[in-house]
Amino acid sequence: MLHIHRLTSVDEVDRQAAGPLISALQRRPDTVLGLATGGTPIGLYRELIAAYTRGEISFAQAVTFNLDEYIGLSSEHPQSYRYYMEQNLFAHIDLPRERAFLPNGATSDLALACERYEQQLESYGYPDVQVLGIGHNGHIAFNEPADELQADTHVVQLTDTTIAANARFFTNPQEVPRQAITMGIASIMKAKTIVLIAKGSDKAAIIREALFGPIRTQCPASLLQLHPDLHVFVDSEAGSELP
Ligand code: PGA
Repeated sequence: MLHIHRLTSVDEVDRQAAGPLISALQRRPDTVLGLATGGTPIGLYRELIAAYTRGEISFAQAVTFNLDEYIGLSSEHPQSYRYYMEQNLFAHIDLPRERAFLPNGATSDLALACERYEQQLESYGYPDVQVLGIGHNGHIAFNEPADELQADTHVVQLTDTTIAANARFFTNPQEVPRQAITMGIASIMKAKTIVLIAKGSDKAAIIREALFGPIRTQCPASLLQLHPDLHVFVDSEAGSELP
């Protein structure tokens, strides 16, 4: 079931998109949250930190899983997703780090790291609420457009468009890793509720294609049309091409 929330401002998107996570934590303190990185969810994390600071929620019993992580960056590298999560969320809340899971992209045994991550997801029953952004090419997490998509957590080669889009975060574009570990499409679809966020006019065309175009592996986000509880939060720019 698709629920589209078209909002007038980016601030309102952040506030509303935080809602399902906040109410899940209030209902069940040991909620499993699926988290994303990139520019899009930073405002949502600010909302979560504010709700925590006001005493409305606690993460003391919560569990988090991130969608993906670069291969070859240590967790102290400022562009690693572990570092991003520390900066934008973890350092400001009471989440025990032993229950803050990200794929391990700094190991020599990547196959084992993928297998372990999927097992950890499975042992916690997959996220109750999963936050997602969307790439300009329709990727979700690092599941890039392709003739075939992989179900479970796996190693990916990043596409040139994704490398170019992410280069803005690196001082030297040559430093952008070429590979990452990502949750697969099936791992993502196992979340009970999905919160998909898109902001800005540059996301208008892809969000329309993902939600109303044909379901195809060349637009991985289109698979989300099959999810039973998909909540999409867009500002007026990203939502401008929606019917
Ligand atoms: P962005 O990335 O939030 O930085 O636009 C979204 C994505 O690539 O999934």
